[in-house]
Amino acid sequence: MGGAAVIPLSLAAVAEITGARPHLVTDPAATVDTVVIDSRAAGPGALFAALPGRRADGLDFAPDAVAAGAVAALAARPAGVPTLVVPDVPAAMAALASAVVARLPGLTIAGITGSAGKTTTKDLAAQLAERLGPTVSPYGSYNNEIGHPLTILRVTAATRYLVLELSARGQGHIARQCEIARPSFGIVLCVGLAHAGEFGGLAEVARAKGELPAALPAGGVALLNADDPRVLAMAGRTAARVVTFGRGPQAVVRAAGVRLDDQGRPGFTLVTPEGSAPVRLRLFGEHNVTNALAAAALAGELGLALPEVADGLSAAVARSRWRMEVTQRPDGVTVINDAYNASPEAMAAAIETLAVMARGRRSFAVLGPMYELGDRSRAIHEQVGGQAARAGVAGLIVVGEDAAPILAGAKAEGSWHGELLWVPDVGGAVEAAAARLTPGDVVLVKAAHSAGLERVALALTGEVAQ
Ligand SMILES: Nc1ncnc2c1ncn2[C@@H]1O[C@H](COP(=O)(O)OP(=O)(O)OP(=O)(O)O)[C@@H](O)[C@H]1O
Ligand SMILES: [Mg+2]
Repeated sequence: MGGAAVIPLSLAAVAEITGARPHLVTDPAATVDTVVIDSRAAGPGALFAALPGRRADGLDFAPDAVAAGAVAALAARPAGVPTLVVPDVPAAMAALASAVVARLPGLTIAGITGSAGKTTTKDLAAQLAERLGPTVSPYGSYNNEIGHPLTILRVTAATRYLVLELSARGQGHIARQCEIARPSFGIVLCVGLAHAGEFGGLAEVARAKGELPAALPAGGVALLNADDPRVLAMAGRTAARVVTFGRGPQAVVRAAGVRLDDQGRPGFTLVTPEGSAPVRLRLFGEHNVTNALAAAALAGELGLALPEVADGLSAAVARSRWRMEVTQRPDGVTVINDAYNASPEAMAAAIETLAVMARGRRSFAVLGPMYELGDRSRAIHEQVGGQAARAGVAGLIVVGEDAAPILAGAKAEGSWHGELLWVPDVGGAVEAAAARLTPGDVVLVKAAHSAGLERVALALTGEVAQ
């Protein structure tokens, strides 16, 4: 991750904010204006946060960072160079992020949570907010205990909007992120099965996501998906004004006349209290209509005029990779790389989009496992197999031991006559798909991130060697 641009603070101020013990610090007045975690990104004005890595300890790179101009290291132990010593480096980064936000009362913060679509919606919302003023938002899904503060630390005195993705692996996670930088606008997209196993069920997922509306101030706005009863119920957990979005007629911000073009890109009329305007998304898949409505509802509340909202949505591109990323090969094969992640909802949405894009063409699905589904895992994988079969794929290539129940689900679909295949790994999947694809075919590649199926898609598009 590259440099971060915090508003200038003296080392003494940073030490005070983080409760650090200075070690070998000779110039407490030296100015910090960026925080980096990679010594190669360090330069004059940088504070190098030394984190323990998987292969190396960041502390070992502190001398490199200082040699490159960094003012000091922020580390758990003295690093042999000027160091602000703190017991917990991520916690110190969070404290610093909070302090920076507190110094910028003109900054408007929006948080986005939900079981699926956070990154997509965040990227859409950020592209709309940029039309109103300088905007900071995370790269990709970079929103863990390091990424969250680092993103916030990129704001400067010129930043007007901070659009954050808030994710939870358990109760209290979102509340904690909201304490670091309190949003006044909060979107909740859906309560779904992603990570539901870890949470212990949908009610628990709803409780965790509801921490965002609960954190909003009375002057804020909670943007809630009216199509999801568990999300709509969060209206009772917020002091903020509620604005709904969704596909149903009851939502305040909704879509009329949704249709997909032959590539699976949705077009619709955006309907808001301000009026209606036509939108044609560049993103693929009908599920993105909901994400676009959420972003539109937020942008409208931020003060962006309806024509600008509609125009911005139509111009917005997918910024984060491997989410329904569509590549046209020179030979006419279409590769849909949706290997970033796979919740049951996302899997269903992707197969639905494949079916639309495949009208009149042969389609293939290369599907790997979904994780963190608890004891419903087998049944959910079987359902996915059934759905792929009903979508009429010419071939279903199931990747890996953990995805094997998909086979049973597809087999149970008696009227389907496509080819069903199991391969053990990425290499097998590339080989099987490459051998079957002929000009004009369309292939979807999707699984949990950890299955690494983006390598299948990248091999099929020629971005990496097969
Ligand atoms: N509204 C939606 N309903 C169902 N699936 C969706 C929706 N929005 C996005 N998806 C699918 O979910 C997957 C992840 O999308 P995205 O990265 O936007 O979600 P996320 O909530 O940020 O995920 P993560 O929890 O990994 O950060 C993609 O495969 C995408 O196609
Ligand atoms: Mg994400």
